[in-house]
Amino acid sequence: MKKIILSFVFLAFFYQSFGQHAIIPTPVNFSSTHNSFILENGVSLYLDSNNADVIEYAKQFKYFLSQSDLNVAIQNSNKKGKKIQLSLLKNKNAELGKEGYTLEVNQNEINLVANEPAGIFNAIQTLKQMIPLETANSETKSFEIMGCEITDYPRFGWRGLMLDVSRHFFTVAEIKAYLDKMSEYKFNVFHWHLTDDQGWRIEIKSYPKLTEVGAWRVERHGKFGSDISEPKPGEKATYGGFYTQEQIKDIVNYAADRNITIVPEIDFPGHSMAALAAYPELSVKKEPKYVSPGNEFSEWYGGGKFKMLVENTLNPIDENVYNFIDKVFTEVAQLFPGEYIHMGGDEAYHGYWEENAEVQKFMKKNNIKNSHELQSYFVKRVEKIISKKGKKMIGWDEILEGGLADGAAVMSWRGMKGGIEAAKMGHEAVMTPTTYAYLDYMQGDITVENKIYASLSLEKAYEFEPVPEGVNPKYILGGQGNLWTEAVPTLQFAYYMTYPRAFALAETLWSQKKDKNWDDFVRRTEENMVRFDKEGDNISKAVFDPTVTVYKKDDVVMCKLENSIPNTEIFYSIDNTYPVKFGKKYTGPFQIPSGDLSLRTQTYRDAKPLGRELIIAREDLVKRIKK
Ligand code: ACM
Repeated sequence: MKKIILSFVFLAFFYQSFGQHAIIPTPVNFSSTHNSFILENGVSLYLDSNNADVIEYAKQFKYFLSQSDLNVAIQNSNKKGKKIQLSLLKNKNAELGKEGYTLEVNQNEINLVANEPAGIFNAIQTLKQMIPLETANSETKSFEIMGCEITDYPRFGWRGLMLDVSRHFFTVAEIKAYLDKMSEYKFNVFHWHLTDDQGWRIEIKSYPKLTEVGAWRVERHGKFGSDISEPKPGEKATYGGFYTQEQIKDIVNYAADRNITIVPEIDFPGHSMAALAAYPELSVKKEPKYVSPGNEFSEWYGGGKFKMLVENTLNPIDENVYNFIDKVFTEVAQLFPGEYIHMGGDEAYHGYWEENAEVQKFMKKNNIKNSHELQSYFVKRVEKIISKKGKKMIGWDEILEGGLADGAAVMSWRGMKGGIEAAKMGHEAVMTPTTYAYLDYMQGDITVENKIYASLSLEKAYEFEPVPEGVNPKYILGGQGNLWTEAVPTLQFAYYMTYPRAFALAETLWSQKKDKNWDDFVRRTEENMVRFDKEGDNISKAVFDPTVTVYKKDDVVMCKLENSIPNTEIFYSIDNTYPVKFGKKYTGPFQIPSGDLSLRTQTYRDAKPLGRELIIAREDLVKRIKK
């Protein structure tokens, strides 16, 4: 017995051993030393340049420390004494590139060095994660920062998260909070999905009804697409909101101050019901429309085939549509200084085009053979509009169908194949495959998650590799996680869905491929979960919940429980009792007998429960058996 206890203590010690960092994403080179730095009041924050961005980052860091009652003075002259020094290199270090940095911690100094301000920003994010979760000395408010030498730079230049603000609206303050968090994990692209069937969220001065009408829908509760009814005649549209152009400029600047570029998405020609509620004349049928409150208005037949029961597509043969798009993108291009504008292009229903005589006549006249080619005609015209504004166009991988526009970049979401095809044609691609990067998918057992049609575990998200074999990596800009918000009504739930899977994506997109290590990633994830808890923000702990697999063996129902977290044990019961610690420990597949019973299971480390209890009735277990 003693032996068992000793080995368990040893394991626990090993798990938290000295010299290990908890940085996400893991740095390219990290070596620890014994020269730790005591961060306390009186330490100075010394800038050896007058670069405005570095000054801004120093101010943000000072503010961050002040939240732990630590006051540091920003200095421009190199005084004696303990200091944190931010330096831009006069002779650039090619290894570090634009966003890389070095960070050295010793007894007297912390040195953050980079070629560009972006590198200083990233170095500060690393340093923030090195501040221990507990004060070393609560009376003096001092923190011991582990001595170390770090050299770090990203693998990819596009490290993104997408947030859909159409299905649910997020305020300016909420968007800023979301940006704050993503910048802490070195994401540098915020893909802002601003328009969809359920709301148009960006003020366009030349088309005021887009927000007067398109930003508002009747309020419904319940699950999107299930029992939500369409608006009743005369019913007031009360749910929604939009960002004024002033608010957008503010958010763009806020993001830039956190090394984040915003890629705005205006989704055309499909997903345009909110725009068409405002301007129905831009559709083929020109009939009145409404902003969808989340009611079901499409039928899905599998294999990507679907039908829209309400027209939500722009008319591709109408010059007024192109004038509209031109004006919209003129304003969008002026608001967003980044290189790319996203024009959507996904899931555009062609049925109303196909049944319209005018459209068919136009296709014949212009030798357009099918509706994919017609969409390609539309996308190519949009590409010309966007490139005239000095921007590059990016679109979902449907823009490949019928022929890709010159110069267009592809965002591959239906797996990796769209990105592969684009790269093989010498086009840029961003990888966001559903299989690894869809943050709206369930991350744990269906009994405890908000039910969605698909799942993506943290472990699976960590397996993401953006550069497929045989593809020239120079065309793969990077990747991103996408958070669609049909089932995400609040910022705190957005955090729950985003993290920790975004940690996995951050590590894939920043760290070296060879340095990815699941067990070590989990250890660092657990520490960052504590940070979220302390900050009062949600993070999913679903990774601790067992994966429940049910199968039949010789007509007996068998159950397998798994979890991939080191140093944990799973306890369970099949007699309707709470799965207490020191109860029935899972050691291998077991039989589910007949009877009115539920499987109840809980993960523990030492005597502490981790994650949630799962309670699954026998009848639901049996439904999980694969035929
Ligand atoms: C998408 O998920 N419709 C891009």
